[in-house]
Amino acid sequence: MTDAATELPVKTPLSIAIDGPSGSGKSSVSKAVARSLGLSYLDTGAMYRAATLWVTRSGIDLDDAAAVAAAVVAMPLVQILDPLEPGVVLDGDDVAEAIRSTEVTSVVSRVATNLDVRAELRARQRRIIEAEQRHDGFSAGRGIVAEGRDITTVVAPDADVRILLTASEEARLARRALEVHGTADAASVAATRDQVVRRDRDDSTVTAFTVAADGVVTLDSSDLDFDQTVAAALRIVAEQAPPRPVLN
Ligand code: DC
Repeated sequence: MTDAATELPVKTPLSIAIDGPSGSGKSSVSKAVARSLGLSYLDTGAMYRAATLWVTRSGIDLDDAAAVAAAVVAMPLVQILDPLEPGVVLDGDDVAEAIRSTEVTSVVSRVATNLDVRAELRARQRRIIEAEQRHDGFSAGRGIVAEGRDITTVVAPDADVRILLTASEEARLARRALEVHGTADAASVAATRDQVVRRDRDDSTVTAFTVAADGVVTLDSSDLDFDQTVAAALRIVAEQAPPRPVLN
């Protein structure tokens, strides 16, 4: 777990919360930060996606809020916290790919805006983050990077480092188009617009992830490439979580 770590002078155990809208680069940046510091990585969006897959596979009507929430409370979900190979295992099945399908992406906001679902998944997220502050977790006590929409504000407002990763709508649309369609030409950007803009609008009815809360550092990646964004995030970590002074 420590071989990829750069051993930046930061305190351990370390908890890093990163929020941001779709296409901000949050997942890849969070994974790279976790790898670089030898930390675990938790993708909370994957939990909402897995919940959506679970509920739709069970044939539950997404408009039946109580049935959706009850199914999510019983959902047998295991997340692999390795930033080199993060995994999502649902009832014994590897669903890492299935949760990224257009079918899931187009309805995930309906599950993520169910307040009872949010309460359940937030409780699970807090348990995972807490376990990574102890020696029995995946990171053996080094800590965790958790990313999503409400980690800096609701799930882990007391995290050591809290970052809001933003980018202009134009930059986010172009990145997502490139990711999904392999090109960022006008047609691909238009096809991506619903996934990015509409989903963020729906999601922002239950989470505030466009403006940084007090104490949360904004990192705008519109004019930065990937490596520059990761380097900037690591600088914020080193500033916000300096090593603890050794007391004799
Ligand atoms: O980041 P993503 O696209 O994988 O997120 C999937 C969905 O889950 C998205 O609609 C926003 C929602 N989400 C949320 O409401 N709260 C989080 N902490 C993470 C994701």
